[in-house]
Amino acid sequence: MENLKLALIGDIHGFWDRKDNEYFDRSDYDALLLTGDFPGYLPFSGRTVTRGIAKLNKTVYWIPGNHDSTNVVQLLGEILHSKWMIRTGSIGHQFRLTCLQRRMGDTVCLGYSATDLDSKTVLVGARPFSMGGPLSFLPLLKKVYGVSSMKESFEKMKSLYPKIQGKDCIVLAHNGPAGYGSKRDDIWGCDFRKKGGDWGDGDLRRFLDFLKEKGEKVSLILAGHMHRKIRDLNRDRTWKVSENSSHTINAAKVPRIFKTKEGNLYRHHIRLERKNGIWDCQEIFVAEKGEERISLPEDEEFLFSSDTF
Ligand SMILES: [Fe+2]
Ligand SMILES: [Fe+2]
Repeated sequence: MENLKLALIGDIHGFWDRKDNEYFDRSDYDALLLTGDFPGYLPFSGRTVTRGIAKLNKTVYWIPGNHDSTNVVQLLGEILHSKWMIRTGSIGHQFRLTCLQRRMGDTVCLGYSATDLDSKTVLVGARPFSMGGPLSFLPLLKKVYGVSSMKESFEKMKSLYPKIQGKDCIVLAHNGPAGYGSKRDDIWGCDFRKKGGDWGDGDLRRFLDFLKEKGEKVSLILAGHMHRKIRDLNRDRTWKVSENSSHTINAAKVPRIFKTKEGNLYRHHIRLERKNGIWDCQEIFVAEKGEERISLPEDEEFLFSSDTF
């Protein structure tokens, strides 16, 4: 199997700038994979990010997150389970998505899709706009993808099987699959409820189980959404689960650009490298002058604040 080197960038939330463009353009990555959630928490903050990413001279694959092309009314509607708010907020959603895709230039927007990375490797985009819990942004999913239930969502992913068969499969999703534990600091554990719970997606779980039954090899399951830091526990959730040379990764280290206590600034991404058919996954912290570190000692604890950027 050919060697392959990919960069995985978790939820960006506004943390992208010229230095990222310089670094990734100079890098030897074959492609960049993005888990979505481009905007920060200020209006239009996503524009700088999308403009920067569109300029990259690398092939970029991304999946829309719950913050991409959506608005506050929709997001609140999803959180409060208000059908009225979801419906009202969804007016113009398809148009906003088209505009976002246009702003992203030549990048590849994934969602219920499978695309070949090389002759033996396929990249599968799971359900776009996922934020855990019930099917989110239903009006758009119905209109654009013809999906109106978890079952239909699973069937839609299952229909990609002919494109996946016999290949080394990589799955990119915004939120990860169910089945990885229900403790608050598990990889997709529900940290916003005291009792925890499994916040992974059931449709994606069924799809992965289906591929397993068929004897297909899913080497990498890549997603984000459930941010790494669990504030009240003041610790990070599990970011990687490896089993039989397959790796499941939650890349959402937010903010991905941060300063340490000593005032050193780092940029985070994950390096996925396949050599002789074996995948190796490594966190990379890029310092100001471009030097790379694969870990940061605990005494360099992060200052967890967006004003560091
Ligand atoms: Fe998200
Ligand atoms: Fe996010």
